[in-house]
Amino acid sequence: LSILSVTSEMFPLIKTGGLADVAGALPAALRAEGVTVHTLLPGYPAVKRALTSAQTVLDLSAPFGREARILAGTAGGLSLFVLDAPDLFDRPGTPYAGPDGADWPDNGLRFGTFCRAAAELAGGAVEGFRPDLVHCHDWQAGLVPAYLRYGERGGPPSIMTIHNIAFQGQMPPDILPWLGLPTRAYSVEGIEYFGRIGFLKASIRLADRVTTVSPSYAREIRWPEFGMGLEGLIRARGQDVVGILNGIDTGVWDPAADTAIASGFDPVTLYKRKPNKPAVLSRFGLDPASERPLLGVVSRLTWQKGIDLLVEALPTVLGLDCDLVVLGAGDATLQEALSAAATRHPDRIGVEIGYDEALAHQIQAGADAILVPSRFEPCGLTQLCALRYGAIPVAGRVGGLADTIIDTNEMAKVAGVGTGVLFSPVTKDTLDQALVRTAELYRDPQVWRRIQSNAMRTDVSWAGPAAAYAGLYRSLARQTRAAVR
Ligand code: ADP
Ligand code: GLC
Repeated sequence: LSILSVTSEMFPLIKTGGLADVAGALPAALRAEGVTVHTLLPGYPAVKRALTSAQTVLDLSAPFGREARILAGTAGGLSLFVLDAPDLFDRPGTPYAGPDGADWPDNGLRFGTFCRAAAELAGGAVEGFRPDLVHCHDWQAGLVPAYLRYGERGGPPSIMTIHNIAFQGQMPPDILPWLGLPTRAYSVEGIEYFGRIGFLKASIRLADRVTTVSPSYAREIRWPEFGMGLEGLIRARGQDVVGILNGIDTGVWDPAADTAIASGFDPVTLYKRKPNKPAVLSRFGLDPASERPLLGVVSRLTWQKGIDLLVEALPTVLGLDCDLVVLGAGDATLQEALSAAATRHPDRIGVEIGYDEALAHQIQAGADAILVPSRFEPCGLTQLCALRYGAIPVAGRVGGLADTIIDTNEMAKVAGVGTGVLFSPVTKDTLDQALVRTAELYRDPQVWRRIQSNAMRTDVSWAGPAAAYAGLYRSLARQTRAAVR
């Protein structure tokens, strides 16, 4: 089976969030399932630099009315197509925003053109490449199903995976003439959404299947509290919407072989985890000899992640005699609030504003617990890394957090099956209570070791999820073939 994966980010080439990790790791995991994946990425500078043995396989300048071509090549062992359209993608900053942090005003045109190129590829415009299916990720790939539906070329069936329904890609309708879609596409059945072009909305209507990254989130987005306005459309798709959990790359996240951490360990040699705590404490300028429970955070600093609740709960953290280290970047006010707390309590709270892959590994290896107080979380990868590294996740009972962590309640403690601490609804008060419970569990070394060992033995690999995707691909491809016959 041959798949075209369409994504705006892919680890290790370009990453702003978990989408990149998923798009980067899934192809290798699918290979074991007999599925071949080619990935289409926009030609950002970092992507073009990483591409080796690149060849132009399709020139789209004439139909697109701007310099645009598709390059084929490889990077990090993955087969890539890259949309090289310099006036759209050869820019500094993140994939979505300039160096000043403001979104590019022409994001609709940028990613609309990206979707158009994807549909050309999917429809067989490149000699020798005819995928059985297109797998689209998030709003940036949201118009692909529209091109496949309304375009002249047609193409294979499509799947949209929603990594976060909060990001919907609603764009001004005046870009329509530049997109090369027929005007009839601009309707409620198609790409129109409250007088704008809704990228994610279009894909929820038009993709053959919609998936999201956990079974709980698939249920949650059917309702207003989590659906962000798209709940009605999600409900209308009924059984076409399924949740498949993410995994993590257990080669990149391997505590036994991790060169970024002070001391390697595994579930059997858990005692070797110990030196990682003083190492991370001193990295943050805290007392390396501290025997207080060490709480860690590795996160985007946003409302979604409940970081404002954490700021409010800092007195509880200190009152329970815990230390705290935070690595993250995001909203300026949250960055400032955390930094100010670190300045006020330099011996107890360490904060690093920024993005640092190695430090993320060090925190996962050294912290006793990892806090993930998310208000909503489609899947979440941080808690999967935490489980694998024996840092006990303390998390809101939402989305993928609810699906991947077993709360150590009284019965779970007796049965010896807990892997973390869950709390709901997600408020400052319930976070406080969860912190109290965590400190209690920590005080019983035997119980704590059991939770750590359970956590580390949890299967967080891509094996199960990849099999689920392969099953979905095959059933959809089979159905499409049957319908054509
Ligand atoms: P989201 O995609 O919503 O930000 P996920 O938990 O799915 O959340 O994925 C985030 C990924 O990025 C995780 O692998 C996490 O460890 C990593 N990460 C987040 N912030 C940072 C940071 N400041 N430095 C290093 N890694 C980070
Ligand atoms: C999004 C979600 C996160 C998920 C990631 C990868 O960024 O916020 O929960 O893990 O996508 O699917």
